Amino acid sequence: WLPPQAWRPLGVRRVLVHGDGLLVDTVFAEVAQACAAHGGRVDRTGTDGASAVDPVDLVLALRDPGPLPSAVPAAVTAGPTPDGPLGDEGFLLTRVDDVTVVLADAPAGLLYGLFHLVRLGEAAHTGDHPARAHRPALRRRMLDHWDNVAVHPVMGQVERGYAGGSIFWRDGGPRGDRDRLRAYARLLAACGVNAISVNNVNVGLTEARLLTDRLDDVVDLADLLRPYGIRVHLSVTFAAPVVLGGLPTADPLDDGVRDWWESTTRRVHARIPDFGGYVVKADSEGQPGPFSYGRDHADGANLLAAALAPHGAVVHWRAFVYDHRQDWRDRTTDRARAAYDHFAPLDGRFADNVVLQVKFGPVDFQPREPVSPVIAAMPATRVAVELQVTQEYTGQQWHACYLAPWWHEVLAFRPWGPAERSVTDVLADVPGPGPHRGGDLVAVANVGDDPFWCGHPLAQANLYAFGRLAWDPGLAADAILDEWIDLTFPASTVGDPALVRETLHAVLDDSWRTYERYTAPLGVGFMVNPAGHYGPGVDGYEYSRWGTYHFADRDGVGVDRTCATGTGFAGQYPPPWSQVYESLERCPDELLLFFHHVPYSHVLHSGVTVIQHIYDTHFAGVAEVVAMRDRWTRLAGVIDQAVYDRVVERFDEQLRCATEWRDQVNTYFFRKSGVPDARGRRIH
Ligand code: GCU
Repeated sequence: WLPPQAWRPLGVRRVLVHGDGLLVDTVFAEVAQACAAHGGRVDRTGTDGASAVDPVDLVLALRDPGPLPSAVPAAVTAGPTPDGPLGDEGFLLTRVDDVTVVLADAPAGLLYGLFHLVRLGEAAHTGDHPARAHRPALRRRMLDHWDNVAVHPVMGQVERGYAGGSIFWRDGGPRGDRDRLRAYARLLAACGVNAISVNNVNVGLTEARLLTDRLDDVVDLADLLRPYGIRVHLSVTFAAPVVLGGLPTADPLDDGVRDWWESTTRRVHARIPDFGGYVVKADSEGQPGPFSYGRDHADGANLLAAALAPHGAVVHWRAFVYDHRQDWRDRTTDRARAAYDHFAPLDGRFADNVVLQVKFGPVDFQPREPVSPVIAAMPATRVAVELQVTQEYTGQQWHACYLAPWWHEVLAFRPWGPAERSVTDVLADVPGPGPHRGGDLVAVANVGDDPFWCGHPLAQANLYAFGRLAWDPGLAADAILDEWIDLTFPASTVGDPALVRETLHAVLDDSWRTYERYTAPLGVGFMVNPAGHYGPGVDGYEYSRWGTYHFADRDGVGVDRTCATGTGFAGQYPPPWSQVYESLERCPDELLLFFHHVPYSHVLHSGVTVIQHIYDTHFAGVAEVVAMRDRWTRLAGVIDQAVYDRVVERFDEQLRCATEWRDQVNTYFFRKSGVPDARGRRIH
């Protein structure tokens, strides 16, 4: 998004920028670039408030310190700020007497105000706008890059990356494309992201050294991202005191270990004063952690939190902790239960600058899961909900799969029932009964060195939507898509803007549900090919140690997670959800097989049997992909040829893969159940 044409409505104006600071410099530079391209004029007020641009159409001003420039209409300066202070990142937008005014109390607010103007386009410069304050709902809106500095023998440069190599690293060192990094920072600021972790949560030896002798590389990245209001974070290994410091132990209660983290962290902050903090995957999938020393996750997280606290930084401690050496015959162990079992008993023990980072669902970024019960279980702990923008389980950026509707559902979920607070309210720290701490929205990033940034040009919409939802979780998915379309395909750059909008909505609006239809049915999850998690592998994980089973046999399918007869996972939710999920009658269809093992003849709320649902949705899913691909061809000659061609290529693969999913899933269940398709279609 943000090609030069998107700046035209702003770039033709007479603009005044008022205020000082690095981010105000960025605002000025952006406006100057737009004006140079489109014929407008820009100036910055001097200390006397005077400017060479007079009269003006647009003022972007910091309210503090000192008086506002005289170009700001009196009606604006006299009026009260709606809804209290603007805070560190908020801004106020108004338009009076033919002047559009953006006011902020801190430089970041002015930057976000600028990008809001770009989003509004011509509408920002016409008519009157009553003063309106805009503030982010969530304080920290963060991307986690799973990028490796050194190429990992299995995972490559980017773990679960589907957009080429890393944007930060190449072959063991910095990639060094500063222009691209600056452009990336700008794209992220334009959708509201303000924090980035620059290396993989699975920390290798080379990556561990970013904390110490490779710190220069991180300093450089921080310097590039800072002008766009983005703070850098690092993934660190819990074993760092041993592997980097040469200590005999990484025991979190050991004084030497504590000193090591304190002095190391001090050195990081001396070089990067606004360093954001650490991200830690501990005691998970082979990563080291406090368990080795007989300590728990609170001991581990608080150790790092203590080192970071004097510098105003935080530790994101991941709750993705489970036994990855399971036996499918052991029905008492349930991976879905693990995060709650590990962390809920620790609520209240985490330091104030610990943010417990919880995957949105209890298993692993599947296209459908219930919302994690950990969010409701830890009212005295700051929580970050972790989403996956990189489409590991949702088509790997070969499939068009717009995830905003899904994330919107997750954020709108009300863990304590329909009349109580939502996940968004918990993160945004909206008051409610009991203690509450607020938190962040975090996502695994999907960008690489691919010329289209994300492999699939339409996967950019997911990145944009993540940032926008983190800023305002109430935004509707289709409204976000409209913004993205306007910013990415400005009307003046395409042959037929109405057709572009209509086509992108037709292709993307329902694409997540389409993906769900042709993949694992009814919330059962994990039917992917174990080699890379792409494409169908119905039994791919069924007898493995990873704890992700669907338990299909000749009689039925699904995981019994009830308290009455199953693993008891349903009981980890507060009522009413514990009762809803426990009950075969009340459990929503889309999660039925996540919570219940049922016969193929079980009749869904929709009125069809489970087996017929499997057949119907898989045929429908493929038909929808055919329709999506056909719709896209209407854009031939209407949009940029290279973008068009790349998407055509992706749709061809999506159709091939969706067909494979349909045939493997349908055949598998036909053979298991022996029940034919009621509509007599060919099962391959
Ligand atoms: C998934 C993913 C891994 C990743 C893990 C995590 O399991 O496949 O590559 O390391 O999530 O979130 O830590």
